[in-house]
Amino acid sequence: MVTENTLTDTLKRRLRDLRISVTDRCNLRCTYCMPAEVFGPDYKFLPRSEILDYEELARLARVFAGLGVSKLRITGGEPLLRRDLPDFIKMLAAIPGIDDVALTTNGILLPKMAEALKEAGLGRVTVSLDSLDDETFGKINGRGTGVKPVLAGIEAAEQAGLGPVKINMVVQRGVNEQDILPMAEHFRGTGQILRFIEFMDVGNSNGWRMDKVVPSREIVQTISRRWALESAEPNYQGEVARRWRYKDGEGEIGLISSVTNTFCGDCNRARLSARGELYTCLFASEGADLREPLREGKTDGELAELIGGIWQRRDDRYSEIRNQHTKGLPKAEMSYLGG
Ligand code: GTP
Ligand code: 5AD
Ligand code: SF4
Ligand code: SF4
Repeated sequence: MVTENTLTDTLKRRLRDLRISVTDRCNLRCTYCMPAEVFGPDYKFLPRSEILDYEELARLARVFAGLGVSKLRITGGEPLLRRDLPDFIKMLAAIPGIDDVALTTNGILLPKMAEALKEAGLGRVTVSLDSLDDETFGKINGRGTGVKPVLAGIEAAEQAGLGPVKINMVVQRGVNEQDILPMAEHFRGTGQILRFIEFMDVGNSNGWRMDKVVPSREIVQTISRRWALESAEPNYQGEVARRWRYKDGEGEIGLISSVTNTFCGDCNRARLSARGELYTCLFASEGADLREPLREGKTDGELAELIGGIWQRRDDRYSEIRNQHTKGLPKAEMSYLGG
């Protein structure tokens, strides 16, 4: 029998973190994630009948918790578009063994929802924001949406007790590299943690090229020319962001370097799509279907055996072997898998 204490994959990695995508839809069209040319009015999103309901998702989460998962992150698409999300949070927060329930969002709906999310048991949120300039941000998000609603979302989350909020900025050469310093300046001293993410080759449609990646090393140099930085220890094993602290005590930043400094060696994450497929890597082309076994009446024990077996066979380390064997292979879209 697979148990939490014995379960490791072929590279001796444990299963600790589950990311659950609750919808493949989003109210933005970020060029690096859901480019509007591809995700247009005719794009076929998952129909309601294909999507697991909250009871089903929570049951799977419970089985994952039994296999060692202690952290849950709700993603999308944009998770706040899914109806009655606080009801789902409540179910997740009540699962024995789960000590962290977080959410990644574009922030726009937070002013409406932050309080209900907190009351339901959400611990914290991460908000995506790529620029403080309306024109640049509007172009990147593909909808012309300005910065203000996102800042209002961050503020609402802090007010509701969901802070300190983390801010994710995807940096692209020639697109928003000029925003690195203004973003750092804005979030310094607020207690909020800005993380710079290297533009990744996820999905098949975002036109990724190596020369559009701004390496984390360069970002650290740019910032430390202005404010002295010192590196900080990870908060937990498998943390994807490398932490740096401002030496003057004004807080910290994070660098997520999935292109230039990969972290597959510690990767303890599984991803569950809204349709109930288990992906063992962000860059996988397909996932294992859990919906059918779930709906045909498998017991929790049987589901645990199935999931445990998939984890034991796992050998993913895409970022480490990028460009060797993987070029041109189809990959799942980020908006489907939830980042
Ligand atoms: P914390 O729990 O606060 O440490 O959050 P997190 O950094 O795990 O979550 P978040 O959703 O903010 O992740 C930030 C970004 O890092 C993701 O959106 C991805 O772009 C990237 N990322 C997260 N996990 C992985 C991973 O396992 N592999 C790769 N290649 N990138 C990842
Ligand atoms: N490269 C890097 N980060 C990405 N995200 C979405 N697409 C990409 C990409 N191609 C980030 C978003 C969000 C998180 C879920 O993933 O900005 O913060
Ligand atoms: Fe939507 Fe987030 Fe993707 Fe932007 S990055 S399109 S906000 S899911
Ligand atoms: Fe984990 Fe795959 Fe990301 Fe490597 S590329 S850290 S194995 S999700």
